[in-house]
This record gives sequence, structure tokens and C-alpha cells, in this order.
Amino acid sequence: MTQKMESSGGIVHGNDKVIEVVNELVEFYGTASDKVVQILTGIQNRLNYLPDEALIEVARLTDITPGQISEISTFYPQFRHKPTGRHIIQFCAGTTCFLKGSREIKEAFRDYLKIEESKSCSPDNLFSIEDVECLGVCAIAPAVRIGNEIYGNLSTADVGRVVEGFLESIEKKPRPVNKSALDNITGEIRVGIGSCCVAKGSKEVLTEIVAYKESKNIPVLVKPVGCTGACGYTPIMDIVSNEGDRKRYVAVTPQDVESIMEENFGDKKNMVNTVDDARGIISKKLDDYLAKQTRITTDTGGILSPVSLNEYISKGGLEPFKRLVNEKNRSLIIDRLTLSGLKEKSSSKLVGEEIWSLKTDENGSHAIICYSEENDTGSFKDRMMLETFPFKIIEGMLIMGLAADIGRAIFHISDMYPLAKRRIKNAISQYIKAGYLGYNILDSGFSFEIIVIEGPGDFMCGERESEFAGMRVLMLSPETFCGVPSVFENGNSDGNNARKTPNTLIVGLTGRVDTPGVVEVAEGTSIGVIIDRFGGGTESKENIKAVHIGGLAGCFIPKELFDMPLDYDIFRNNSLFLGPGNIEMINEADSIVDLTLHFADFARRQSCGKCAICRAGTKRMYDIITKIREKNCAKEELAELELLCVHLKKGSLCGLGKNAPNAVVSALKYFKKEFEDGLLA
Ligand code: SF4
Ligand code: FES
Ligand code: FES
Repeated sequence: MTQKMESSGGIVHGNDKVIEVVNELVEFYGTASDKVVQILTGIQNRLNYLPDEALIEVARLTDITPGQISEISTFYPQFRHKPTGRHIIQFCAGTTCFLKGSREIKEAFRDYLKIEESKSCSPDNLFSIEDVECLGVCAIAPAVRIGNEIYGNLSTADVGRVVEGFLESIEKKPRPVNKSALDNITGEIRVGIGSCCVAKGSKEVLTEIVAYKESKNIPVLVKPVGCTGACGYTPIMDIVSNEGDRKRYVAVTPQDVESIMEENFGDKKNMVNTVDDARGIISKKLDDYLAKQTRITTDTGGILSPVSLNEYISKGGLEPFKRLVNEKNRSLIIDRLTLSGLKEKSSSKLVGEEIWSLKTDENGSHAIICYSEENDTGSFKDRMMLETFPFKIIEGMLIMGLAADIGRAIFHISDMYPLAKRRIKNAISQYIKAGYLGYNILDSGFSFEIIVIEGPGDFMCGERESEFAGMRVLMLSPETFCGVPSVFENGNSDGNNARKTPNTLIVGLTGRVDTPGVVEVAEGTSIGVIIDRFGGGTESKENIKAVHIGGLAGCFIPKELFDMPLDYDIFRNNSLFLGPGNIEMINEADSIVDLTLHFADFARRQSCGKCAICRAGTKRMYDIITKIREKNCAKEELAELELLCVHLKKGSLCGLGKNAPNAVVSALKYFKKEFEDGLLA
């Protein structure tokens, strides 16, 4: 019989329940040893932690040895070995949340829930707290996640409202939606439903719109759409007529809906447009914000539904793939990709050349991997891309599979991005049903399957890379796959029709910026232009001091260098790291030493320990910067820190160790004075 026992240290599950869960998961995933991450993730998702009895049962039922289980379950910090409360509050430890006060927010939650300093669970076992890397919603930092709900733009005063609101929300039953067909649809109302749109209330706005529409029987389609990336303006409500006329409302609240609907569809619809007048300026600002971008990869954000393959196809989606699979000319596809200049954003290598190098290697098995699991701070654009463009990303994978003659693809998606995971899984099943995935697609002889691996969300370092040992993989980011179909739009078969438009970069703009978001710009646009055009200055109107670019492996760039173009070659030539191209803005009041310590802490925690220099070096780096922060550092130790960076770069095996010193090196280059202020007199 299944039973649940409550204890002061979280909820402990009875043995029957544990055995039942493990059996179900083993039946689903199979017994092979390479399924260890999926099975452990499944156990944790169901039981909130990994009970010892569960691990013993996994070892008993599968080919996974106790040694492997122990190695994997202790390597990833996301795996829990202790019981938790019923609901887990996850505090983002990413850079933007750190900058905006996540530590104070966490303390306020502790106080509110009466969680003692040495404990992580509330006395009533209702809530546990834990730290995680970036939640992928940096634009609304500081943020926390409880269950599947994200709460953003928090201050310590919000804590009670968030906890009570969450408890209320899990009681609520969703309002039934009347799906009765309507004749004579006059247009559609679009509302973005990305994670940060939802966190800012877009679901509540949608509920109000549907209720109003149904009560008045208004012949309009209410359509949840993917996000525009304009996080600073959400929730956005676009009313679009069949003729294409559009009225746009930004920062809409549920209370605004009635007046907006009245003025567009009610008896008073010819009266003065009061709501639009009140919001006119900001709505115009959003139009400019979108118009000034070079939106090629993200062109359908805020327009198409992220859950309808039919709509994607009706707007021209899959035309490139259908044409290419019919042409059956792989060399031509690769040549067109090379000619287009499309690059993998994290490495800046030409995608076409990557495929050629892959094809010449005949050893080992091949797979295409869409990797978005690193929870790298500021990488919220990956999350946004997966949530908004699932169909386009999959079409990009199909074309790459065709070009590289590979029939298998894997999505690695972080557990931190549950909505992205749902959207991708939903898109895959629609593709399969429609016959665009699976065996012998469109009778072409080309077969392609995609699986989703749910990961604990971590940096791809030495230990993790070994999962792909013996496999020749083509690993690209969601952004790159999403850019592939555009290369072949409006094409014909002459081989000369690669996209002639500029190569673009998708940038997540966060930190102390006034209007955070995800923008697509031509490669080579300068940092200063991006900040001026899209950032709108700093939220506090303080002076900008610097930006941090490239996520956790990235570097600081002082404002004197803001003319520098975002271009991989230029960055490399200046010994700087552009990485995924995210920009976090830093104010005069922010301490570069504090931020550098934050990055050193990440490297120290993520080091897999395989190489001694990375294992010991990242820890020493952290210790020295801590001393600087406490104004307790000897001059020789500062010199040691500089030398340590050189050794880490040279001696580390993988990207994590090699890039761990990037923040320190750039901080010492441009802001050494702040470090010298921490030396002993
Ligand atoms: S450099 Fe660090 S993270 Fe990479 S393999 Fe070595 S110890 Fe592991
Ligand atoms: S959500 Fe907190 S830093 Fe990304
Ligand atoms: S508004 Fe959708 S990602 Fe920010």
C-alpha cells in the first residue's frame, strides 16, 4: 500500500510508491545504461528527490551500475538527495537576478516561511527553497519559480503576495472555454504566451478576453502567440483585422481588457479611442523597437501560434524542406548554406563547413543535437526561441539532417525550461502525425526521428561531453537551427538562391537596462547602438559603467569600448569572448569585484573535477576574489590570481575550465583599481 509520511525535513515517500515510480520509468525508458540521466530526472520529477530505495531499485532493474548512479546523481547539483517540502521555490542564482537583489529576496522568503538558517524546508513541509542557475527569464529579474509558475520583477515586499497567490492558483480550476465555431470571423486578437509574458499576466489577460468575447458573441479569433521578445512591454495585445489593420496595446492588465474590447467591438466602438490614447506613446515605442531590428529568424514572433503546425504550414512553413527533400541534392544544400554565411552562434563556424567536416568522418554514429541546456545566465533567448519557434527549429533540423545525411536528432532541454519542453514535444508529435517526421518522409526515402532528452540543466563540460563519446555530433543552438529555413525561402533549384540578407545575431538584453528583451540585429552592430536603440538607458537613470557579454564564460567591456561591433572575429582578435551574444548592462554603482566573484563561484561549482588545474584553480580563484571583496588580500595573491588565469586557460581540458577566467581577465584589464582597493594596506 502506498503511504506518505510527513517529517520535519520534508515529505518522505513510502517504499511502495518509490518502487512503483521506478518500475514505470524503467518500463518507459528501458534498461540501457545510457538512460541513467532520464530515469533519475524522472524519479526526481515525480518524488521531488532521489530516495536511496529508488536508486537501489534502479540498479536492480537496469544495466546501470550503482557506481554510475552515484557518479551522475552527485555530479549534477540539480539532483536532490534529501526530502523536500510539497512545493519547491527555486531562486535564480544567475547574474541579472544577482545584480537585482536575489539574495535579499531569498532572505525575505526565508523570513516569511519561517525557514531556519540551517534548513531548507518550512516547518509545515509546504515549501522548500533551493538555488538554481538562470531560470531563463532574465528580462523580468529578479525571478523565482514555484512549481510551473514564474514570478518576476520581485521586490522583498512581494513575497507574501507571491506565496499566497501561488497557493490560491493551485486551488483554482481553469475556466471552461466555449469552443463553439464562429462564422464570419472578422480578425484575431493576439496575446504572447512566452514564459515571461505569462509571468507578467498574459494568461489572465487572455482569460478576460475570452470571457468578454463569449459573453458578447464577438466573431473574432483569440490566438495565443509566440513572443515578440519585447519583454519590457508585455503583456502585448494586438487586434488585427482580416484586412491586416492592427491596433496594439502594451502592458495590458486584466482590468484593461473590458475597456479595450468595448472600444474595439462594443456599442461605443466609434467613440474616442481612450485606452489607445493613454498608451499611444509606448505602443509607438514598441513599433519602433521592432522596426529597427533585422528580424529574419524571429520574423513570426508575436504573429504565429507556437502550438499549431497547420498555421505554420499555411504561412509557408515547410515549403523549403518539401522542395529540398524533393530535389535530393545534398551538396547543393550545403553549398547554399555556406554561401548564405549562416554561422553557429556559439562558435562562429560556418554551418555549411561544419556539415562537410561531419560527412567526411565515417567513424562512429552521427546525431544532430539542438542544445539549450546550459542555464547560462542571460541565455534566456534560447528558452524564448524554443517556446516561440518550435516548428521552424524542427524544420531547420530536418534540413540539416537532409544535408548531412543523418536520420537522428536530439533536443537537450534544461529542466529549468518546462514550457519550452512542452512546446517542443507538442511540435514533434504534430510533425509525426502530419507525416513530416518518421520513416520515409513524403515518400522521399529520407527518414528522420527526433527525441527529447530532459536534462538536469548544466554547463556542457568534460564529464557531460563524454555522454557523446564515440558519436560524431553536429551540435547547434536553437537560434542557428531556426535560421536555416530562411536561407531557402523563395528558392528555386538553380543553386544560386541562398539568402542574400545580412547574417544576424539574436541578443538577449538584460541587467540594469530600462527595456530588457530579445532583439535580432545585423551581425556587426555595435554594443552602443544596441543599448541606445533597444535598451532605453538604465532603469535607474544612473550612468552605465560596462556590459558583461557572453554569459558565464563571458567578459566585461567598459563603456569606452561600446563602439565595438558584435562580431565573432573582432572579439576573438581582442581576446574577448562573445559566446551566445547576450548583453547584461552594469551601472556605476555595481561592484565589478562582486560580479567577478559571482562568476568564479559558478565555475567552482560547475567544475567536474576531471583536471586538477580546473578543480583546484577555480576554487583558488574564488578564494582570492573573496579576500579582495573582504579587503583582506595580499598583493602577492592578486599577482597569483593573474597567473592562475593563464594556467587555467592553458591547462584545462574543456571549455568550462578554459573560459572560467574570462570574467577575471577582463575585469583585471579594465577595472583593476576596484581589485587593488581590496588589498591589505
Ligand atoms: S576543465 Fe574543468 S570542467 Fe572541464 S573537464 Fe577539466 S575539470 Fe572538468
Ligand atoms: S532568470 Fe535570473 S539571471 Fe536569468
Ligand atoms: S516577453 Fe516573451 S521572452 Fe520576454
